[in-house]
Amino acid sequence: MLLSKIKKHIFLTYVRLRQKNTIKKIYKTNDRLLRLILESFQKLKSGNFSSEEIKIFGKCESYRSQLLENDDLISFEVFNSKKKIKVKDVCKKATSPPSWGRLLYFITDLMKNPNFLEIGTNLGISGSYILEAIKKKEKGKLITMEGVPMLSEISHKRFEEITSRKKFKLYNGLYIDTFPKLLKSKQYFNIVFIDGNHNKKSTLHYYEKLKSKLDFPAIIIIDDINWSNGMKSAWNSIRNDSMVKFSIDFYKMGILIIDNKYHETKQHFNLFLTY
Ligand SMILES: C[S@@+](CC[C@H](N)C(=O)[O-])C[C@H]1O[C@@H](n2cnc3c(N)ncnc32)[C@H](O)[C@@H]1O
Repeated sequence: MLLSKIKKHIFLTYVRLRQKNTIKKIYKTNDRLLRLILESFQKLKSGNFSSEEIKIFGKCESYRSQLLENDDLISFEVFNSKKKIKVKDVCKKATSPPSWGRLLYFITDLMKNPNFLEIGTNLGISGSYILEAIKKKEKGKLITMEGVPMLSEISHKRFEEITSRKKFKLYNGLYIDTFPKLLKSKQYFNIVFIDGNHNKKSTLHYYEKLKSKLDFPAIIIIDDINWSNGMKSAWNSIRNDSMVKFSIDFYKMGILIIDNKYHETKQHFNLFLTY
């Protein structure tokens, strides 16, 4: 445990020391989507936000604060578990921290028509950031998937407060049932956030199957790429897939730019956002 923390720290220090050089290299690629991610990252790092952005982030974080005071119990029976966990504890454990929510917001905001798929709604924290960006667009939609009925209910209510129902759809149910339905739907995505069911087999499965649902070139974001050996291995094999053109490893999240061509050589980058 201690050794892995030390290793992480040394690695991230190395990434930070090389960051300026990495940014220059990313600019040189001249790739539209890669630069869009870099722009989002730099905006976030600069802290130079417009009054509208400050208002939106305040709204998302006040929703988090409400959840952190909520003692209602969530049942996880759908996963054959007898445990019941308070909303506030689910919120502490499973939701994206503010910086990552903001990164998702900026990336979505910089896209013209974001057709966004999120696997892992939870309490709708990341979904709130994403939907705040989507609601301003003429076209674009958030499709998000959650297995726990009470979590779906809470998130759905939250999303309805943000925007109209035509801007989002929430699939409630276990992915084993809802993922095949999604694959049969007419929806195509130019951005995907895989943040549910973090194990190697499922992550590789979602990635492979989702290739047929992408509107190329597309962005795929995978959370918790260093969470377990299985996730490390899944990230490593996905980023070396022939359709991947670029990858950015943020240690917590990994972001891929993928298109429908064969890329014998690819470029992998590392950036540091936060611990
Ligand atoms: C890490 S949380 C998502 C966090 C959310 N994206 C955020 O940042 O606020 C993952 C969610 O995926 C759901 N999930 C995990 N495995 C699932 C499965 N097999 N079927 C349906 N939902 C699942 C969990 O119930 C959980 O709410």
